[in-house]
Amino acid sequence: ELRRIPHPPHRIPLLGDLLGASRRTPLQDSLRYARQLGPIFRRKAFGREFVFVWGAELAADMADESRFAKHVGLGIANLRPVVGDALFTAYNHEPNWQLAHDVLAPGFSREAMAAYHPMMLDVAGRLTAHWDGEAAAGRPVDVPGDMTKLTLETIARTGFGHDFGSFERARLHPFVTAMVGTLTYAQRLNTLPFPGLLREAARRNEADIAYLNRTVDALVHRRRAGGGGQGDLLDRMLDTAHPGTGERLSVENVRRQVITFLVAGHETTSGALSFALHYLSLNPGIAARARAEVDRVWGDTAVPGYDQVAKLRHVRRVLDEALRLWPTAPGFAREAREDTVLGGEHPMRRGAWALVLTAMLHRDPEVWGEDAERFDPDRFDAAAVRGRAPHAFKPFGTGARACIGRQFALHEATLVLGLLLRRYDLRPDPAYRLRVTERLTLMPEGLRMGLERRAAAG
Ligand code: HEM
Repeated sequence: ELRRIPHPPHRIPLLGDLLGASRRTPLQDSLRYARQLGPIFRRKAFGREFVFVWGAELAADMADESRFAKHVGLGIANLRPVVGDALFTAYNHEPNWQLAHDVLAPGFSREAMAAYHPMMLDVAGRLTAHWDGEAAAGRPVDVPGDMTKLTLETIARTGFGHDFGSFERARLHPFVTAMVGTLTYAQRLNTLPFPGLLREAARRNEADIAYLNRTVDALVHRRRAGGGGQGDLLDRMLDTAHPGTGERLSVENVRRQVITFLVAGHETTSGALSFALHYLSLNPGIAARARAEVDRVWGDTAVPGYDQVAKLRHVRRVLDEALRLWPTAPGFAREAREDTVLGGEHPMRRGAWALVLTAMLHRDPEVWGEDAERFDPDRFDAAAVRGRAPHAFKPFGTGARACIGRQFALHEATLVLGLLLRRYDLRPDPAYRLRVTERLTLMPEGLRMGLERRAAAG
């Protein structure tokens, strides 16, 4: 069946791939191949064949939950030594997935989000305090660095009542260093044919995991000793019984979920905010429209309320459009539940899988037009969305295993963009050219910009 799927004419030699640039930018290389090879293609790397799908029709077919499901493989499977059967890395058949999903889903309800809102505002206040200083000194700000501090503090605070003190520290908190260390290690396992060569790195990885576990255990211990928090995610994990079965999450599973949420809950949102700010700084017309909306909807209320965030339609479109061009989780894997035929053309055996290349699906000219590479938030106005093929915009994945934190991320990012647009004019660094780095997620590397406080800012 594979024979029908196009592949690059020159197979990449193993060592060439190892030493070449592609090890650092596998996604952007795949985008290049996608343009040459069409809506479905395969690439061989390290003796294995990977199938990529990005055409909108094929991707929509793979969204059919009756025939396809999430595939835990590649980078995700490599994270299992750290987070095991927590939500993101659980196999579909593991009972802890359904249990944790049902117990934690109410942690992302409207009511729960409204309770997180003041904490999100508080963390955003620490960002603007820092940025006010930089603006006054005429210094450009480190956008991805500061967005990562913001989103990490936000998930730590709303999830676990924890404060890493990111804005007050000159260097990263050791917990963050350990977290990034294990992620980087997992990514390297992905691209190296003989992981055994990494003995020293493996030892460091073990130490990182042990440190993460110790830190989380101490956090849980303090919470239990203190008699509970203010109804955050950790309280939910510790106290909530499954509504149907009465079952609770085990101690080990709670530890894995905490680490999962800290990781899944910050880097992707940080990237989304960074890309959005990049495009806003380059498109003063779009920024002016979004800012006018913020001024109109928020008026001169000092602090926007929960409901005032969802009313920022333009700001939200800016965010969607940034996630279209650079979905910060740039793909997801799907496997066949039974023998099936993809798109009426490609037979797949039960368990066979393919990567949906979201970053390319979001640029399919058949859906998004010949100007698909252009940043244009109006693609997300209501009429345009109604007229579009379904399943063509999937930054949060699809089906039962789609992102549980979607509303959380959207609320946080829309709130922060609104606050920043209201407070500052963004001045792009004329020398900056977008360079996208790939870890497990995408980030605009080295993005800096100048800020000017607006006169009437709240
Ligand atoms: C799953 C993207 C923010 C927690 C996913 C998936 C994607 C995604 C694509 C599916 C992965 C797959 O199919 O293998 C994003 C993006 C975000 C974001 C682009 C920000 C812009 C968040 C936040 C949280 C979170 C803020 C937590 C507060 C999770 C979890 C899963 C997940 C726990 C696994 C869900 C499951 O399998 O049941 N995310 N995410 N994410 N995300 Fe997010």
